[in-house]
Amino acid sequence: MKGIILAGGSGTRLYPLTKAISKQIMPIYDKPMIYYPLSVLMLANIREILIISTKRDLPIFENLLGNGRDFGIKLEYKIQDKPNGLAEAFIVGEKFIKNDNVCLILGDNIFYGSGFSGLLEEVTSLKKGAVIFGYPVKDPRAYGVVEFDKNGKAISLEEKPENLKSNYAIPGLYFYDNTVISKAKTLKPSNRGELEITAINKKYLKESKLNVKKFGRGIAWLDTGTPEGLLEASNFVEVIQKRQGFYIACLEEIAYQKNWISKEHLLHKINELKNCDYKVYLKNLLN
Ligand code: G1P
Repeated sequence: MKGIILAGGSGTRLYPLTKAISKQIMPIYDKPMIYYPLSVLMLANIREILIISTKRDLPIFENLLGNGRDFGIKLEYKIQDKPNGLAEAFIVGEKFIKNDNVCLILGDNIFYGSGFSGLLEEVTSLKKGAVIFGYPVKDPRAYGVVEFDKNGKAISLEEKPENLKSNYAIPGLYFYDNTVISKAKTLKPSNRGELEITAINKKYLKESKLNVKKFGRGIAWLDTGTPEGLLEASNFVEVIQKRQGFYIACLEEIAYQKNWISKEHLLHKINELKNCDYKVYLKNLLN
């Protein structure tokens, strides 16, 4: 399975923070935002990853993450010319996906919780159809919303509905078979002028090939789209890291634990760093 991180958009709700730089490069406590979705793909054992962003911002991500070698993965980069919607990722990424299945994660979605890695590994074994998630939030009107019948089966999907049929929002993490490319190509822009991911999901639902898994209360899905959300996510990461002493989304740690990078490689990277908490943390991994 291939992975795509969509890190485009104009981040209008964060203005003026995003006037000159990408939203997905903003700090979430001690790491750039994109580290968090990238860590999710790595935890799902996805090692071939395409990062899609704007012409302006793509070089920043290339600078930050390079070809992925330091994290035991392979990274490619591609420009999305205009913010034409999430579903365009499959058209922009067609050559990269080739005949594989693909996981799309949004560059501003942060997940954390017990059992999350196991769940991801399970979902990547997907052969046909699609897997998406439902997550209860107090007010899901800013999201895609999924309605379930009494047996827990998804029966309807709506993008940013005024009148809510459920309080289950659809997080920005989607697993698709290869037909997602042809599905994306048939889409027409929505009222807000975008190729909607919800429209893709509706196609899978119509074919009875959409599996919507519910995230339990033990999983945190954080929004980083507003200044408030950004600060809350930072505070959340700080609290967990300080209390447990484990980092969230430390890419080198994940790569090292999965044996994707050698001890020598990690040591070399550590020695390149100037004194900082991140260096101390990486050093401790070797002990
Ligand atoms: C997008 C999707 C929406 C999804 C959300 C998750 O919303 O359209 O279905 O619930 O991401 O973050 P947007 O960021 O375009 O408002």
